[in-house]
Amino acid sequence: MVAAKLYGPVQQDLALVEELMASLRQVDYPPLAHMLDIVLSGSGKRLRPALVLLSGTFGDYRLDLLVPLAASVELLHTATLVHDDVIDSADTRRGRPTVNSVFHNSTSVMLGDYMFAHAAELVARTGNIRVIRLFAHTLMVMARGEITQDMSAYDSRQDVQEYLHRIAGKTASLFATACEGGAIVAGEPEEWVLALRDYGYNLGMAFQIVDDILDFTGDEAEMGKPVGSDLMQGTLTLPSLLLLQRYPDDNPVQRFFHERTQEHLQQAVLMVRDSEVLDESYAIARQFSRRALEALDVLPGTEARQTLEYLAEYILERRS
Ligand code: IPE
Ligand code: IPE
Ligand code: MG
Ligand code: MG
Repeated sequence: MVAAKLYGPVQQDLALVEELMASLRQVDYPPLAHMLDIVLSGSGKRLRPALVLLSGTFGDYRLDLLVPLAASVELLHTATLVHDDVIDSADTRRGRPTVNSVFHNSTSVMLGDYMFAHAAELVARTGNIRVIRLFAHTLMVMARGEITQDMSAYDSRQDVQEYLHRIAGKTASLFATACEGGAIVAGEPEEWVLALRDYGYNLGMAFQIVDDILDFTGDEAEMGKPVGSDLMQGTLTLPSLLLLQRYPDDNPVQRFFHERTQEHLQQAVLMVRDSEVLDESYAIARQFSRRALEALDVLPGTEARQTLEYLAEYILERRS
């Protein structure tokens, strides 16, 4: 799974988050227990809970508050994936069958709702009203990002600015909240809270851009989820948007949006893979990663800060 050095000083404490998440499976209704087993037994990278803990190290590192917050953030993330896989009709996630490949879509949506509610219950355990409000607000922003994406499907008139706004909502907002929330419950100075939020936001932007690149270039087995699905769903991401900009006339993406054949899709994917837009997308991801690093400037030079710095590099190089 995750390399030991990836999360540095909080690696061991992440086991407490795993324990708390595993305890959620103890429900007295076997079908629900079975569904929770499906979604909670696959091992994700646990990047967001790691960010909560790492951010909390710069203050009063209280595991009794940070562990429920970290579990809450990971559960919220996992719930969005349950819904996302229904929307995308995906049959694998984290290398395992999705809930929607085993149960009905309607059941999967309700399971996602159940998980959102549980995430809210976990964040309430922090007893911190600022963090609870942050959590609720983030969920609204994420849902809005997903709705925007859905409403703009197969619409080739979008621009890069709109794309960046969309991924800020659906992904960077939760990264920002993971960092900000950890810093708040640890009682850190406001300057550090804002710096960590800034770090999380920029890291999340870079992370989603790389995810969108990997959707064209990644390996399904390594990723543990289907690749090549964004364009198929009509979702324009940075590589395909840049391709549209670069070749406005007679573009295979345009052709595919007009006539959704397998052949047009194939041509569009091949053209993205063969063109300079992938390098350009990486360059933009690198800019966000650099901004994430800069945000850390005001923090003390601890091992946790080094780990956050390392993560800003790692997410650019990741293959899964
Ligand atoms: C997947 O997130 C959804 C995106 C924001 C791209 P991750 O790549 O962090 O998924 P897991 O948690 O490791 O499975
Ligand atoms: C992230 O976007 C989804 C959420 C934030 C819910 P993607 O649609 O790219 O995620 P994957 O690629 O399916 O993991
Ligand atoms: Mg998806
Ligand atoms: Mg993706």
